[in-house]
Order: sequence, then structure tokens, then C-alpha cells
Amino acid sequence: MYCVRKVVDDLYWVGGNDHRLALFENIHPIPRGVSYNSYLLLDEKTVLFDTVDWSICRQFLENVEHVLDGRDLDYLVINHMEPDHGASIEEILLRYPNVTIISTEKSIMLMHQFGFDVDDKTMTVKEGDSFRFGKHNIVFVEAPMVHWPEAMVSFDTTDGILFSADAFGSFGALDGKLFNDEVNFDRDWIDDARRYYTNIVGKYGPHVQALLKKASTLDIHYICPLHGPVWRNDFGYLLDKYDKWSRYEPETCGVMIAYASMYGNTESAVQVLAAKLAEKGMTNIALYDVSNTHVSYLISETFKYSHIVLASVTYNLGIYPVMHDYLMHMKALNLQKRTVGIIENGSWAPKSGSLMKEFLDEEMKQMSILNSEVNMISALNDNNANEVDNLVESILDSMKEA
Ligand code: FEO
Repeated sequence: MYCVRKVVDDLYWVGGNDHRLALFENIHPIPRGVSYNSYLLLDEKTVLFDTVDWSICRQFLENVEHVLDGRDLDYLVINHMEPDHGASIEEILLRYPNVTIISTEKSIMLMHQFGFDVDDKTMTVKEGDSFRFGKHNIVFVEAPMVHWPEAMVSFDTTDGILFSADAFGSFGALDGKLFNDEVNFDRDWIDDARRYYTNIVGKYGPHVQALLKKASTLDIHYICPLHGPVWRNDFGYLLDKYDKWSRYEPETCGVMIAYASMYGNTESAVQVLAAKLAEKGMTNIALYDVSNTHVSYLISETFKYSHIVLASVTYNLGIYPVMHDYLMHMKALNLQKRTVGIIENGSWAPKSGSLMKEFLDEEMKQMSILNSEVNMISALNDNNANEVDNLVESILDSMKEA
């Protein structure tokens, strides 16, 4: 059965939701599911903006057929050729053989790489090109690395609609609600939106900044991303988040404590740290055991907070492997500009602290490491409890300076 929503008079959401996929890109957990958005414009010509993941192709095809209501499909605009959006192109070609695919040169190259027979069915566009489909005039704007090199966004100058590809998207299934003002985004969606952005597009902050600059020149009334809600108001909220995330600036002054503990002693130390911070009035604290928190959540929270405390036991003379994996993800996603406190533990050759500092100094950018650190031998005791006090003071002092 078709399941569509009207965006504006002649534009329909024809995408779908997937609650069965456990891991997006086979790596990121999506307990709230995910939506794959596609939009169909009914003008003098009919124009489909992107397709969907293979998993919901059948639903998608029913939706397209219903909205077309007997008309042929004239154009398929592909803003992003990653398979979660491009996988159903061949099915569209089979059902609508007269369709012309509009996309960038790199995107069309990717279609061939993925084995799609699109010869003689494509029209290449580049930055600033425009096309009139009747009442609607669409301008194509390149958006390289948001999130693949071939990506573009399309802007409908007639109604002020930005088809923004992966930009401004989110994990989470829509489940009937399409627009940002039909959900409580700040309560129910922002954590998934941040986790989506930081893990999927986080590495490409400068490219996102370039796109934001281009978008600032457009008179936008709707933002139609490929995942998550369509935005039709409150753009300032969303743009502010994107601006901060893509400049690697924290959203909030607070402390994220990520700890790796084998027998509970490092965990006990970070509980003491958290209690002392709270006692001093700093209650914006988030505490995570890296061993039982998926790294995509750790990354998302690391982008959010101004201060990070890394507390790790030493393992085989190195950083505890799960903590090391978290650090590697931070580096891969270009995270920077954080103030970091270090807590080291080890029973017979503590090394994790010096190795974590070396990693932050040598492998990452603009990470400010606090001088006060906690060096534990097996467990926190009366001899080094004052190091926790010093770390607390150091964190609070650095917040005053910021
Ligand atoms: Fe949702 Fe980069 O694909």
C-alpha cells in the first residue's frame, strides 16, 4: 500500500522507513530506525529527486506509481549516489524507460561503477546549472564531500525548496511525521541528528562550511534532506548546530568522561571525579564506559561537550584497546578543539596516560591537554586523591578562561 506525504502543493515525499536494519552502513546502530527520503515533483514534467535504499524499494515504487497517477516519469535527479539513495535507480529505469537522469559527472561515473546501465539516459549538470521543468526552476549546486565527492544539492527557486542530500539529515524513522514541527526535535531527535552528522559527515567540516556559505545566499523555505524530517521553519536552530559541528566547536560547556575499566577501579575514580565536579557546581557531566557504549555514541557526545576526560587502564603496555579504538575514530572524524583531562591506571607498568597524550598531541589537531592529571597504580587511594581535586580545579579554571 502506498504511503506518501504532501510537502507542498505539487511536491510529495515518496520515501520510506526501515526499522529492520540494525546497523547503518553496517557499523552505526540505529535503534530508532532510519528514513530514506525521496521527493516527487508534479510539474509540466515529472521529476523524482533521488531514490531509496534497496530495503524499502517496493514501498518506494508503490509510492511513486501512486503519485504519478498514470503519468510517465520524465526526470530523475540524483543528488547523492551512495547506495542508500541510489540503489533503486535500476528499478526506476525498468518501470520508466523514458526517464532522463540528471546528476554530476562523478555521480554518473559511480552509476557505472555500481553496474547500472544508464548509457544514453543521463544529463550531466555542474555548479550553477539550472533547468526549468514547467513552473519550477531548479538550480544545481555542487556539494563535494557532503558526504561523497559526487554530491550536489538542488534548489527549487520557485518555492524555495532545498533538496539537501545528506546535509541536515538524521538517523531515526519518521513513522508518519514528516515535518520538523510535527516532532519535538530538540527533545527526541537532536541526539540522533548529531550522531548521524558527526559519524557520517563529521570528517568533512570544511566542506560543510562551504555548503553552508552557499546556502546562506538562498531564500530557503523548505529543507528536504535524504534522511529524517523535512524542515519548514526554525532554520536558525538547525543551521546553528551545523555551523558548530562543522567548525568543531562544542555545543555546550560541560564534561564528557569516557573511561576504560577492567575491574572497576578506574570506574571508581571517574565516579569520584564526577562527584567532585558536581559538588563544585559543574553538573553538565556525561559519563560513558567505552566498553559498553558504541563508539558512534561516544563520537557524538565528544562533538557536543567542551571538555573530555579520558580515563584508561593500561593494557599490554598500551592504551586499553576499546579506548584506543575511540581515539582512532576521533582522529578519523577530524575532531579537534577540545580540552582534555587524563586519568591513567596500571598495576605494573602504567603507560596509558603518556600514550593517550602522545596520541592527542601528535595525531590530532588543537587538543589542549590539562597539566593536572591523575596517575593511579591499580586504584585511587589517599595518596593520589588530591590529583583528582587538582584535575577538577584545572577543568573549572579552563572553563572560566574559555
Ligand atoms: Fe545517506 Fe551518504 O548517504
